[in-house]
Amino acid sequence: AAGGEPVAPEFKQDISRVGVVGTGTMASGIALVFAQSGYDVVFVGRSQAKLDGVLAYIGKTLDRSVAKGKLDEGGKDAILGRLTGAVEREALGDVDIVVEAIAEDLDLKTELYRDLDRICKPGAILATTTSSLPITKLGEATSRPEAVIGMHFFNPAPVMKLVEVVTTNDTAADVDETVKALCANVGKVAVSCGDRAGFIVNCLLFPYLNDAVKLHESGIEIDTIDAAIKEQAGFPMGPFELLDVVGNDVSLAIQKELYGEFKEPGFAPAELLEKLVADGKLGRKTGEGFHTY
Ligand code: 3HC
Repeated sequence: AAGGEPVAPEFKQDISRVGVVGTGTMASGIALVFAQSGYDVVFVGRSQAKLDGVLAYIGKTLDRSVAKGKLDEGGKDAILGRLTGAVEREALGDVDIVVEAIAEDLDLKTELYRDLDRICKPGAILATTTSSLPITKLGEATSRPEAVIGMHFFNPAPVMKLVEVVTTNDTAADVDETVKALCANVGKVAVSCGDRAGFIVNCLLFPYLNDAVKLHESGIEIDTIDAAIKEQAGFPMGPFELLDVVGNDVSLAIQKELYGEFKEPGFAPAELLEKLVADGKLGRKTGEGFHTY
């Protein structure tokens, strides 16, 4: 209420079982976030090897917490015990919410949403982590656009507190509120956002990252720029370190989306960003991007 205390969001429906679709960096981190907070998690990937990859990341992350004395072996086993992998989407039939974090490809996601609509029980919320695709279109692929919403986590999901909760014109108010309550329950800070290119954070962050690449193209060393930003702005990472964490393919896709939407000449993707992606130098995940790992 204006001028009053902010009202804490309330669960409008019970959420105890969470589905996660995808086996990449974001999906793995998100599965951990929910399992760590006591939710039963069913995560779905295309092969057993990919499911094993998720568990390997989670196991490694939890081992680090144990080594630091932040978690004991019993706590670790309890978290692992709440995670179930599946190669069949049918395993999502009884979850209360699905958080989808597959590749940023509208055709792939549309196909998935049609399936989720068929498979998931009535009332289940269908959340997407897309950072660059129109969520309205995903809703239109289902018979329940009121249940479709964005939950835009940041990388690394277990560490970054922010989640942009993105509603379309079709999203039900109760779904919005439930998702915000869920964010609070897993220790995240939710901000509301409409279904517009870049939402809030990427709309500001990626032009800055793209400009950093152009600044380097004009002759300034990568390390100099990274160091200057860290010292001056107190950012935890310089722009090139961050680009390598996010993945140059992801950054390029987001920058193209912003350029297409806003048509600002300065938003045109930097040539070097395009070149690194073409060369498969995607950042940390491939061992080389702007820096080498
Ligand atoms: N998974 C899980 N936990 C991780 C992790 C990961 N991948 N990386 C780091 N951590 C944990 C560490 O275990 C440690 O935990 P602790 O506090 O319990 O001990 C904590 O995070 C801090 O890690 P480190 O001490 O190793 O290193 P740093 O202090 O340098 O932190 C960082 C690493 C959190 C990645 C920090 O550098 C940072 O905040 N960087 C900026 C990240 C950022 O801006 N992300 C947003 C990108 S934009 C985006 O995601 C949008 C999308 O649409 C592209």
